[in-house]
Amino acid sequence: MSRLIVISNRVSAPTPQQPSAQGGLAVALTAALREADGIWFGWSGETGETGELKFETFDGVTSATIDLPEQDVEEYYDGYANRTLWPLFHYRLGLTEFERDFQGGYERVNRLFAEVISPHIEPDDLIWVHDYHMIPLGWLLRQQGITNRLGFFLHIPWPPTDLLHALPEHRRLVEALFAYDLVGFHTREWLETFHDYVVREMGGTIEDDDRVTVGGRTIRAIACPIGIDAREFIASAQSNEAVTTQNRVVESLSGRRLIVGVDRLDYSKGLEERFNGYLRFLDTRPDAHAQVTMLQIAPPSRASVQSYQDIRATLDALSGRINGAHAEIDWVPLRYVNRGLPRGVLAGVYRAAKIGLVTPLRDGMNLVAKEFVAAQDPEDPGVLILSRFAGAAAQLTGALLINPYSPDEMADAIEHALNMPRDERIARWRPMFDNVVDEDVIWWRKRFTEVLASTERVAEVALEV
Ligand code: ADP
Ligand code: G6P
Repeated sequence: MSRLIVISNRVSAPTPQQPSAQGGLAVALTAALREADGIWFGWSGETGETGELKFETFDGVTSATIDLPEQDVEEYYDGYANRTLWPLFHYRLGLTEFERDFQGGYERVNRLFAEVISPHIEPDDLIWVHDYHMIPLGWLLRQQGITNRLGFFLHIPWPPTDLLHALPEHRRLVEALFAYDLVGFHTREWLETFHDYVVREMGGTIEDDDRVTVGGRTIRAIACPIGIDAREFIASAQSNEAVTTQNRVVESLSGRRLIVGVDRLDYSKGLEERFNGYLRFLDTRPDAHAQVTMLQIAPPSRASVQSYQDIRATLDALSGRINGAHAEIDWVPLRYVNRGLPRGVLAGVYRAAKIGLVTPLRDGMNLVAKEFVAAQDPEDPGVLILSRFAGAAAQLTGALLINPYSPDEMADAIEHALNMPRDERIARWRPMFDNVVDEDVIWWRKRFTEVLASTERVAEVALEV
Protein backbone atom coordinates (compact mmCIF):
# COMPACT_ATOMS: atom_id res chain seq x y z
CA MET A 1 0.00 0.00 0.00
CA SER A 2 1.32 3.47 -0.94
CA ARG A 3 1.83 6.13 1.71
CA LEU A 4 -0.57 9.04 1.51
CA ILE A 5 0.77 12.59 1.58
CA VAL A 6 -1.84 15.29 2.19
CA ILE A 7 -1.02 18.95 1.58
CA SER A 8 -3.40 21.79 2.46
CA ASN A 9 -3.15 25.31 3.79
CA ARG A 10 -4.83 24.42 7.07
CA VAL A 11 -3.76 21.25 8.83
CA SER A 12 -6.35 19.70 11.11
CA ALA A 13 -4.55 16.58 12.25
CA PRO A 14 -5.11 15.74 15.94
CA THR A 15 -2.65 17.29 18.40
CA PRO A 16 -2.08 16.85 22.13
CA GLN A 17 -3.98 20.15 22.60
CA GLN A 18 -6.85 19.05 20.30
CA PRO A 19 -6.76 15.23 20.53
CA SER A 20 -9.79 14.43 18.39
CA ALA A 21 -9.60 15.66 14.80
CA GLN A 22 -12.00 18.55 14.14
CA GLY A 23 -14.37 18.42 11.16
CA GLY A 24 -15.25 15.82 8.55
CA LEU A 25 -12.25 16.41 6.33
CA ALA A 26 -9.90 16.12 9.29
CA VAL A 27 -11.53 12.87 10.41
CA ALA A 28 -11.45 11.29 6.94
CA LEU A 29 -7.89 12.25 6.18
CA THR A 30 -6.65 11.42 9.66
CA ALA A 31 -7.99 7.89 9.34
CA ALA A 32 -6.41 7.54 5.91
CA LEU A 33 -3.08 8.92 7.10
CA ARG A 34 -3.07 6.57 10.06
CA GLU A 35 -3.76 3.52 7.85
CA ALA A 36 -1.28 4.55 5.18
CA ASP A 37 1.42 5.84 7.54
CA GLY A 38 1.30 9.23 5.83
CA ILE A 39 2.08 12.87 6.57
CA TRP A 40 -0.13 15.98 6.52
CA PHE A 41 1.80 19.09 5.40
CA GLY A 42 0.68 22.72 5.57
CA TRP A 43 0.87 26.14 7.20
CA SER A 44 1.09 26.21 11.01
CA GLY A 45 -1.36 29.15 11.08
CA GLU A 46 1.42 31.11 12.83
CA THR A 47 3.16 34.23 11.59
CA GLY A 48 6.92 34.34 12.07
CA GLU A 49 10.29 33.82 10.47
CA THR A 50 10.03 30.81 8.16
CA GLY A 51 12.16 28.16 9.74
CA GLU A 52 11.97 24.47 9.14
CA LEU A 53 9.03 22.14 8.93
CA LYS A 54 7.94 21.09 12.41
CA PHE A 55 7.07 17.40 12.53
CA GLU A 56 4.69 16.12 15.17
CA THR A 57 3.31 12.61 15.53
CA PHE A 58 0.27 12.17 17.68
CA ASP A 59 -2.10 9.23 17.89
CA GLY A 60 -0.53 7.58 14.85
CA VAL A 61 -0.77 10.63 12.59
CA THR A 62 2.17 12.78 11.54
CA SER A 63 1.76 16.42 10.63
CA ALA A 64 4.47 18.77 9.37
CA THR A 65 3.82 22.51 9.44
CA ILE A 66 5.75 25.66 8.77
CA ASP A 67 5.37 29.27 9.96
CA LEU A 68 5.04 32.00 7.33
CA PRO A 69 6.38 35.57 7.51
CA GLU A 70 3.81 38.34 7.89
CA GLN A 71 4.24 39.55 4.31
CA ASP A 72 3.57 36.04 2.99
CA VAL A 73 0.43 35.70 5.10
CA GLU A 74 -0.80 39.06 3.83
CA GLU A 75 -0.09 38.36 0.16
CA TYR A 76 -0.73 34.63 -0.07
CA TYR A 77 -3.49 33.85 2.47
CA ASP A 78 -5.29 37.17 3.05
CA GLY A 79 -4.37 38.38 -0.44
CA TYR A 80 -4.43 36.01 -3.39
CA ALA A 81 -6.33 33.19 -1.66
CA ASN A 82 -8.98 35.22 0.16
CA ARG A 83 -9.17 38.58 -1.63
CA THR A 84 -8.71 37.29 -5.19
CA LEU A 85 -9.53 33.61 -5.71
CA TRP A 86 -12.21 33.12 -3.02
CA PRO A 87 -14.50 36.00 -4.14
CA LEU A 88 -13.90 35.35 -7.85
CA PHE A 89 -14.60 31.62 -7.59
CA HIS A 90 -17.77 32.45 -5.62
CA TYR A 91 -18.99 34.69 -8.47
CA ARG A 92 -18.30 37.96 -6.57
CA LEU A 93 -16.35 39.95 -9.12
CA GLY A 94 -17.21 43.19 -7.30
CA LEU A 95 -15.38 41.99 -4.18
CA THR A 96 -12.38 40.60 -6.06
CA GLU A 97 -9.06 42.43 -5.77
CA PHE A 98 -6.39 42.01 -8.40
CA GLU A 99 -2.91 42.89 -7.13
CA ARG A 100 0.31 41.68 -8.69
CA ASP A 101 1.87 41.50 -5.21
CA PHE A 102 -0.79 38.99 -4.14
CA GLN A 103 0.00 36.74 -7.06
CA GLY A 104 3.72 37.06 -6.33
CA GLY A 105 3.17 36.08 -2.70
CA TYR A 106 0.97 33.17 -3.72
CA GLU A 107 3.57 31.74 -6.06
CA ARG A 108 6.36 32.39 -3.55
CA VAL A 109 4.58 30.48 -0.77
CA ASN A 110 3.61 27.63 -3.09
CA ARG A 111 7.24 27.40 -4.22
CA LEU A 112 8.37 27.35 -0.59
CA PHE A 113 5.97 24.48 0.13
CA ALA A 114 7.26 22.57 -2.92
CA GLU A 115 10.86 23.06 -1.81
CA VAL A 116 10.41 22.06 1.81
CA ILE A 117 8.06 19.15 1.14
CA SER A 118 9.74 17.46 -1.84
CA PRO A 119 12.73 16.05 0.13
CA HIS A 120 10.22 14.11 2.28
CA ILE A 121 8.48 12.42 -0.67
CA GLU A 122 9.23 8.74 -1.22
CA PRO A 123 8.96 7.13 -4.68
CA ASP A 124 5.62 5.34 -4.17
CA ASP A 125 3.76 8.04 -2.19
CA LEU A 126 0.33 9.13 -3.38
CA ILE A 127 0.18 12.93 -3.05
CA TRP A 128 -3.16 14.69 -2.50
CA VAL A 129 -3.21 18.52 -2.58
CA HIS A 130 -6.28 20.45 -1.35
CA ASP A 131 -8.00 23.64 -2.33
CA TYR A 132 -7.53 27.03 -3.92
CA HIS A 133 -4.56 28.05 -1.75
CA MET A 134 -2.41 25.42 -3.46
CA ILE A 135 -3.38 25.26 -7.17
CA PRO A 136 0.19 25.72 -8.53
CA LEU A 137 1.78 23.37 -6.01
CA GLY A 138 1.61 20.30 -8.26
CA TRP A 139 3.43 22.13 -11.02
CA LEU A 140 6.09 23.34 -8.58
CA LEU A 141 6.52 19.83 -7.14
CA ARG A 142 7.08 18.52 -10.67
CA GLN A 143 9.79 21.16 -11.05
CA GLN A 144 11.45 19.65 -7.98
CA GLY A 145 11.59 16.34 -9.87
CA ILE A 146 8.53 14.71 -8.29
CA THR A 147 7.04 12.08 -10.66
CA ASN A 148 4.65 10.55 -8.10
CA ARG A 149 0.91 10.34 -8.69
CA LEU A 150 -0.47 13.76 -7.80
CA GLY A 151 -4.11 14.55 -7.07
CA PHE A 152 -5.80 17.89 -6.49
CA PHE A 153 -9.21 18.57 -4.96
CA LEU A 154 -11.00 21.91 -5.22
CA HIS A 155 -13.37 22.47 -2.29
CA ILE A 156 -14.97 25.60 -3.77
CA PRO A 157 -16.92 26.17 -7.01
CA TRP A 158 -15.17 26.35 -10.36
CA PRO A 159 -16.25 29.70 -11.90
CA PRO A 160 -17.75 30.22 -15.36
CA THR A 161 -15.16 30.82 -18.08
CA ASP A 162 -16.16 34.43 -18.72
CA LEU A 163 -15.75 35.25 -15.05
CA LEU A 164 -12.37 33.54 -14.88
CA HIS A 165 -11.24 35.73 -17.78
CA ALA A 166 -11.20 38.63 -15.30
CA LEU A 167 -8.26 37.05 -13.48
CA PRO A 168 -4.95 38.31 -14.86
CA GLU A 169 -2.88 35.26 -15.81
CA HIS A 170 -5.92 32.97 -15.55
CA ARG A 171 -4.49 30.63 -18.13
CA ARG A 172 -1.28 30.17 -16.18
CA LEU A 173 -3.33 29.13 -13.14
CA VAL A 174 -5.35 26.57 -15.10
CA GLU A 175 -2.32 25.21 -16.94
CA ALA A 176 -0.78 24.45 -13.56
CA LEU A 177 -3.63 21.99 -12.94
CA PHE A 178 -2.31 19.85 -15.78
CA ALA A 179 0.67 18.90 -13.63
CA TYR A 180 -1.75 16.78 -11.55
CA ASP A 181 -2.87 13.32 -12.66
CA LEU A 182 -6.35 13.72 -11.16
CA VAL A 183 -8.41 16.83 -10.41
CA GLY A 184 -11.59 16.54 -8.33
CA PHE A 185 -14.63 18.81 -7.93
CA HIS A 186 -17.69 18.37 -5.72
CA THR A 187 -20.31 18.46 -8.47
CA ARG A 188 -20.87 17.90 -12.16
CA GLU A 189 -21.67 21.57 -12.48
CA TRP A 190 -18.16 22.62 -11.39
CA LEU A 191 -16.63 19.83 -13.53
CA GLU A 192 -18.53 21.02 -16.58
CA THR A 193 -17.55 24.68 -16.12
CA PHE A 194 -13.94 23.44 -15.92
CA HIS A 195 -14.47 21.46 -19.16
CA ASP A 196 -15.88 24.60 -20.75
CA TYR A 197 -12.71 26.58 -19.96
CA VAL A 198 -10.47 23.78 -21.20
CA VAL A 199 -12.35 23.43 -24.49
CA ARG A 200 -13.03 27.10 -25.23
CA GLU A 201 -9.88 28.71 -23.88
CA MET A 202 -7.26 26.01 -24.32
CA GLY A 203 -8.58 24.08 -27.33
CA GLY A 204 -8.65 20.92 -25.22
CA THR A 205 -10.82 17.83 -25.61
CA ILE A 206 -12.89 15.71 -23.22
CA GLU A 207 -13.15 11.93 -23.68
CA ASP A 208 -14.94 9.20 -21.74
CA ASP A 209 -16.32 11.96 -19.50
CA ASP A 210 -13.25 12.08 -17.25
CA ARG A 211 -10.24 12.34 -19.54
CA VAL A 212 -9.17 15.88 -20.32
CA THR A 213 -6.48 16.49 -22.91
CA VAL A 214 -4.63 19.69 -23.73
CA GLY A 215 -1.73 19.48 -26.16
CA GLY A 216 0.07 16.25 -25.41
CA ARG A 217 -1.05 15.94 -21.79
CA THR A 218 -4.10 13.96 -20.61
CA ILE A 219 -5.31 14.10 -17.01
CA ARG A 220 -8.41 12.75 -15.29
CA ALA A 221 -11.02 15.14 -13.87
CA ILE A 222 -14.00 13.88 -11.87
CA ALA A 223 -16.95 15.01 -9.80
CA CYS A 224 -16.69 13.44 -6.35
CA PRO A 225 -18.89 15.05 -3.68
CA ILE A 226 -17.45 15.25 -0.18
CA GLY A 227 -19.58 13.94 2.68
CA ILE A 228 -19.55 14.22 6.45
CA ASP A 229 -18.46 11.63 8.98
CA ALA A 230 -22.10 10.53 9.18
CA ARG A 231 -21.68 7.76 11.74
CA GLU A 232 -19.81 10.04 14.13
CA PHE A 233 -22.31 12.86 13.64
CA ILE A 234 -25.36 10.66 14.17
CA ALA A 235 -23.74 9.39 17.37
CA SER A 236 -22.97 12.90 18.55
CA ALA A 237 -26.62 13.91 17.90
CA GLN A 238 -27.58 11.20 20.42
CA SER A 239 -24.88 12.07 22.98
CA ASN A 240 -25.68 13.45 26.43
CA GLU A 241 -24.27 16.80 25.38
CA ALA A 242 -26.65 16.96 22.40
CA VAL A 243 -29.71 15.83 24.37
CA THR A 244 -28.99 18.35 27.14
CA THR A 245 -28.56 21.12 24.55
CA GLN A 246 -31.73 20.13 22.71
CA ASN A 247 -33.74 20.22 25.94
CA ARG A 248 -32.24 23.52 26.96
CA VAL A 249 -32.98 25.13 23.60
CA VAL A 250 -36.53 23.75 23.38
CA GLU A 251 -37.27 24.98 26.89
CA SER A 252 -36.09 28.47 26.00
CA LEU A 253 -38.48 28.67 23.03
CA SER A 254 -41.75 28.77 25.04
CA GLY A 255 -43.50 26.56 22.48
CA ARG A 256 -42.17 28.39 19.42
CA ARG A 257 -40.46 26.50 16.61
CA LEU A 258 -36.76 27.02 15.93
CA ILE A 259 -35.26 28.01 12.59
CA VAL A 260 -31.48 27.51 12.64
CA GLY A 261 -28.55 28.74 10.55
CA VAL A 262 -24.89 27.76 11.17
CA ASP A 263 -22.15 29.28 9.02
CA ARG A 264 -18.71 30.82 9.07
CA LEU A 265 -19.28 34.57 8.91
CA ASP A 266 -18.64 34.78 5.16
CA TYR A 267 -20.38 36.84 2.45
CA SER A 268 -20.70 33.70 0.30
CA LYS A 269 -23.09 32.21 2.87
CA GLY A 270 -25.88 34.67 1.98
CA LEU A 271 -26.44 35.76 5.58
CA GLU A 272 -27.62 39.25 4.71
CA GLU A 273 -30.10 37.80 2.20
CA ARG A 274 -31.16 35.21 4.80
CA PHE A 275 -31.84 37.88 7.41
CA ASN A 276 -33.80 39.86 4.82
CA GLY A 277 -35.82 36.76 3.90
CA TYR A 278 -36.66 36.20 7.56
CA LEU A 279 -37.54 39.89 7.93
CA ARG A 280 -39.88 39.54 4.92
CA PHE A 281 -41.50 36.56 6.63
CA LEU A 282 -42.00 38.56 9.84
CA ASP A 283 -43.25 41.65 8.00
CA THR A 284 -45.79 39.77 5.92
CA ARG A 285 -47.02 37.16 8.42
CA PRO A 286 -47.75 38.93 11.73
CA ASP A 287 -49.81 35.90 12.84
CA ALA A 288 -46.71 33.72 12.64
CA HIS A 289 -44.79 35.75 15.24
CA ALA A 290 -46.19 33.53 17.94
CA GLN A 291 -44.76 30.47 16.16
CA VAL A 292 -41.06 31.04 15.44
CA THR A 293 -37.62 32.05 16.69
CA MET A 294 -34.53 32.10 14.54
CA LEU A 295 -31.03 31.25 15.80
CA GLN A 296 -28.08 32.18 13.62
CA ILE A 297 -24.66 30.96 14.71
CA ALA A 298 -21.84 32.64 12.79
CA PRO A 299 -18.29 32.66 14.14
CA PRO A 300 -16.09 35.36 12.56
CA SER A 301 -13.75 34.20 9.83
CA ARG A 302 -10.76 35.78 7.98
CA ALA A 303 -11.21 38.91 10.04
CA SER A 304 -8.17 40.73 8.63
CA VAL A 305 -9.88 40.96 5.22
CA GLN A 306 -11.98 44.14 4.73
CA SER A 307 -14.93 42.44 2.99
CA TYR A 308 -15.32 40.16 6.04
CA GLN A 309 -15.28 43.17 8.39
CA ASP A 310 -17.94 44.77 6.16
CA ILE A 311 -20.30 41.78 6.18
CA ARG A 312 -19.94 41.54 9.94
CA ALA A 313 -20.90 45.21 10.38
CA THR A 314 -23.84 44.78 7.98
CA LEU A 315 -25.16 41.80 9.92
CA ASP A 316 -24.72 43.53 13.29
CA ALA A 317 -26.87 46.40 12.02
CA LEU A 318 -29.45 44.19 10.30
CA SER A 319 -29.92 41.86 13.27
CA GLY A 320 -30.45 44.94 15.45
CA ARG A 321 -33.01 46.28 12.98
CA ILE A 322 -34.95 43.00 12.87
CA ASN A 323 -35.11 42.74 16.65
CA GLY A 324 -35.82 46.47 17.04
CA ALA A 325 -38.75 46.23 14.65
CA HIS A 326 -40.32 42.99 15.89
CA ALA A 327 -39.15 42.01 19.40
CA GLU A 328 -41.72 41.81 22.20
CA ILE A 329 -41.08 42.14 25.93
CA ASP A 330 -40.93 38.33 26.10
CA TRP A 331 -39.67 37.40 22.60
CA VAL A 332 -36.60 38.10 20.47
CA PRO A 333 -37.21 37.01 16.85
CA LEU A 334 -33.51 36.60 16.01
CA ARG A 335 -30.81 35.21 18.28
CA TYR A 336 -27.49 36.03 16.69
CA VAL A 337 -24.41 34.31 18.13
CA ASN A 338 -20.86 35.04 16.89
CA ARG A 339 -19.21 31.99 18.39
CA GLY A 340 -18.31 28.47 17.37
CA LEU A 341 -19.93 25.59 19.26
CA PRO A 342 -18.57 22.15 20.22
CA ARG A 343 -19.84 19.45 17.86
CA GLY A 344 -22.13 17.76 20.40
CA VAL A 345 -23.77 21.09 21.21
CA LEU A 346 -24.10 21.88 17.50
CA ALA A 347 -25.76 18.51 16.89
CA GLY A 348 -28.24 19.23 19.72
CA VAL A 349 -29.06 22.63 18.20
CA TYR A 350 -29.73 21.04 14.80
CA ARG A 351 -31.98 18.46 16.41
CA ALA A 352 -33.94 21.10 18.33
CA ALA A 353 -34.67 22.95 15.08
CA LYS A 354 -37.77 22.47 12.92
CA ILE A 355 -36.15 24.26 10.00
CA GLY A 356 -32.52 24.33 8.84
CA LEU A 357 -31.90 27.43 6.77
CA VAL A 358 -28.86 26.90 4.52
CA THR A 359 -28.86 29.61 1.89
CA PRO A 360 -25.41 30.35 0.46
CA LEU A 361 -25.23 32.49 -2.68
CA ARG A 362 -22.61 29.97 -3.91
CA ASP A 363 -20.96 27.10 -2.10
CA GLY A 364 -18.70 24.31 -3.34
CA MET A 365 -20.65 21.79 -1.24
CA ASN A 366 -21.93 22.94 2.20
CA LEU A 367 -21.52 20.40 4.95
CA VAL A 368 -23.86 22.14 7.39
CA ALA A 369 -26.79 20.98 5.21
CA LYS A 370 -25.61 17.36 5.56
CA GLU A 371 -25.02 17.70 9.30
CA PHE A 372 -28.55 19.08 9.75
CA VAL A 373 -29.99 16.06 7.93
CA ALA A 374 -27.84 13.59 9.90
CA ALA A 375 -28.90 15.07 13.26
CA GLN A 376 -32.69 14.82 12.75
CA ASP A 377 -35.05 12.57 14.68
CA PRO A 378 -36.28 9.94 12.15
CA GLU A 379 -39.80 10.00 13.64
CA ASP A 380 -40.15 13.78 13.50
CA PRO A 381 -37.52 15.32 11.23
CA GLY A 382 -37.14 19.02 10.59
CA VAL A 383 -37.26 20.57 7.11
CA LEU A 384 -34.14 21.64 5.23
CA ILE A 385 -34.46 24.86 3.23
CA LEU A 386 -31.48 24.84 0.88
CA SER A 387 -30.08 27.23 -1.69
CA ARG A 388 -30.12 25.84 -5.20
CA PHE A 389 -26.61 27.36 -5.54
CA ALA A 390 -25.00 25.07 -2.94
CA GLY A 391 -23.19 22.01 -4.30
CA ALA A 392 -25.18 19.97 -1.77
CA ALA A 393 -28.40 20.74 -3.69
CA ALA A 394 -27.39 18.14 -6.30
CA GLN A 395 -27.64 15.38 -3.66
CA LEU A 396 -30.16 16.73 -1.11
CA THR A 397 -33.11 16.88 -3.44
CA GLY A 398 -35.67 16.35 -0.66
CA ALA A 399 -34.93 19.85 0.62
CA LEU A 400 -37.08 22.86 -0.22
CA LEU A 401 -34.75 24.30 -2.85
CA ILE A 402 -34.85 28.07 -3.10
CA ASN A 403 -33.25 31.04 -4.79
CA PRO A 404 -31.47 32.77 -1.87
CA TYR A 405 -31.56 36.16 -3.60
CA SER A 406 -35.36 36.27 -3.32
CA PRO A 407 -36.69 37.34 0.11
CA ASP A 408 -40.20 36.36 -1.00
CA GLU A 409 -39.14 32.84 -1.96
CA MET A 410 -37.40 32.49 1.38
CA ALA A 411 -40.43 33.75 3.30
CA ASP A 412 -42.73 31.38 1.34
CA ALA A 413 -40.41 28.44 2.02
CA ILE A 414 -40.40 29.15 5.77
CA GLU A 415 -44.19 29.19 5.75
CA HIS A 416 -44.32 26.01 3.65
CA ALA A 417 -41.91 24.26 6.06
CA LEU A 418 -43.85 25.32 9.15
CA ASN A 419 -47.05 23.88 7.69
CA MET A 420 -45.55 20.68 6.27
CA PRO A 421 -47.28 17.51 7.55
CA ARG A 422 -45.12 14.92 9.32
CA ASP A 423 -45.55 12.31 6.53
CA GLU A 424 -44.18 14.68 3.94
CA ARG A 425 -41.31 15.72 6.20
CA ILE A 426 -40.34 12.06 6.66
CA ALA A 427 -40.72 11.29 2.94
CA ARG A 428 -38.42 14.19 2.05
CA TRP A 429 -35.89 13.53 4.80
CA ARG A 430 -35.40 9.73 4.44
CA PRO A 431 -33.67 9.70 1.00
CA MET A 432 -31.50 12.63 2.06
CA PHE A 433 -30.45 10.78 5.19
CA ASP A 434 -29.64 7.64 3.15
CA ASN A 435 -27.51 9.73 0.83
CA VAL A 436 -25.64 11.39 3.72
CA VAL A 437 -24.89 7.96 5.20
CA ASP A 438 -23.99 6.22 1.90
CA GLU A 439 -21.85 8.96 0.38
CA ASP A 440 -20.01 9.90 3.53
CA VAL A 441 -16.52 11.30 3.90
CA ILE A 442 -14.89 7.86 3.96
CA TRP A 443 -16.63 6.98 0.66
CA TRP A 444 -15.37 10.26 -0.80
CA ARG A 445 -11.78 9.72 0.31
CA LYS A 446 -11.71 6.12 -0.96
CA ARG A 447 -13.20 7.03 -4.33
CA PHE A 448 -10.71 9.84 -4.92
CA THR A 449 -7.64 7.90 -3.82
CA GLU A 450 -8.68 4.79 -5.79
CA VAL A 451 -9.03 6.77 -9.01
CA LEU A 452 -5.73 8.52 -8.25
CA ALA A 453 -3.97 5.21 -7.67
CA SER A 454 -5.28 3.94 -11.02
CA THR A 455 -3.88 6.86 -13.05
CA GLU A 456 -0.87 6.32 -15.19
CA ARG A 457 2.29 7.60 -13.61
CA VAL A 458 4.09 10.40 -15.46
CA ALA A 459 7.24 9.18 -17.16
CA GLU A 460 9.12 12.45 -16.78
CA VAL A 461 8.57 15.86 -15.34
CA ALA A 462 8.31 18.04 -18.47
CA LEU A 463 4.58 18.68 -18.70
CA GLU A 464 4.17 21.65 -21.00
CA VAL A 465 0.57 22.07 -22.20
P1 ADP B 1 -17.20 26.13 4.90
O1 ADP B 1 -16.23 25.02 4.68
O2 ADP B 1 -17.27 27.12 3.77
O3 ADP B 1 -17.05 26.83 6.21
P2 ADP B 1 -19.19 23.99 5.23
O4 ADP B 1 -20.63 24.13 5.54
O5 ADP B 1 -18.87 23.07 4.13
O6 ADP B 1 -18.66 25.48 4.94
O7 ADP B 1 -18.38 23.48 6.50
C1 ADP B 1 -18.40 24.21 7.70
C2 ADP B 1 -18.00 23.31 8.85
O8 ADP B 1 -17.72 24.14 9.97
C3 ADP B 1 -19.13 22.37 9.26
O9 ADP B 1 -18.59 21.13 9.66
C4 ADP B 1 -19.76 23.10 10.45
O10 ADP B 1 -20.32 22.25 11.43
C5 ADP B 1 -18.59 23.83 11.04
N1 ADP B 1 -19.09 25.07 11.66
C6 ADP B 1 -19.59 26.16 11.04
N2 ADP B 1 -20.01 27.05 11.95
C7 ADP B 1 -19.80 26.53 13.16
C8 ADP B 1 -20.02 26.94 14.50
N3 ADP B 1 -20.57 28.11 14.77
N4 ADP B 1 -19.66 26.12 15.49
C9 ADP B 1 -19.10 24.93 15.21
N5 ADP B 1 -18.87 24.47 13.99
C10 ADP B 1 -19.21 25.25 12.97
C1 G6P C 1 -13.53 26.58 3.22
C2 G6P C 1 -12.30 26.32 2.39
C3 G6P C 1 -11.22 25.63 3.24
C4 G6P C 1 -10.94 26.48 4.47
C5 G6P C 1 -12.24 26.71 5.26
C6 G6P C 1 -12.05 27.61 6.47
O1 G6P C 1 -14.06 25.36 3.59
O2 G6P C 1 -12.64 25.53 1.26
O3 G6P C 1 -10.03 25.48 2.49
O4 G6P C 1 -9.97 25.85 5.29
O5 G6P C 1 -13.18 27.32 4.40
O6 G6P C 1 -11.43 28.82 6.12
P1 G6P C 1 -10.01 29.28 6.71
O7 G6P C 1 -9.62 30.46 5.86
O8 G6P C 1 -10.31 29.64 8.13
O9 G6P C 1 -9.07 28.12 6.59
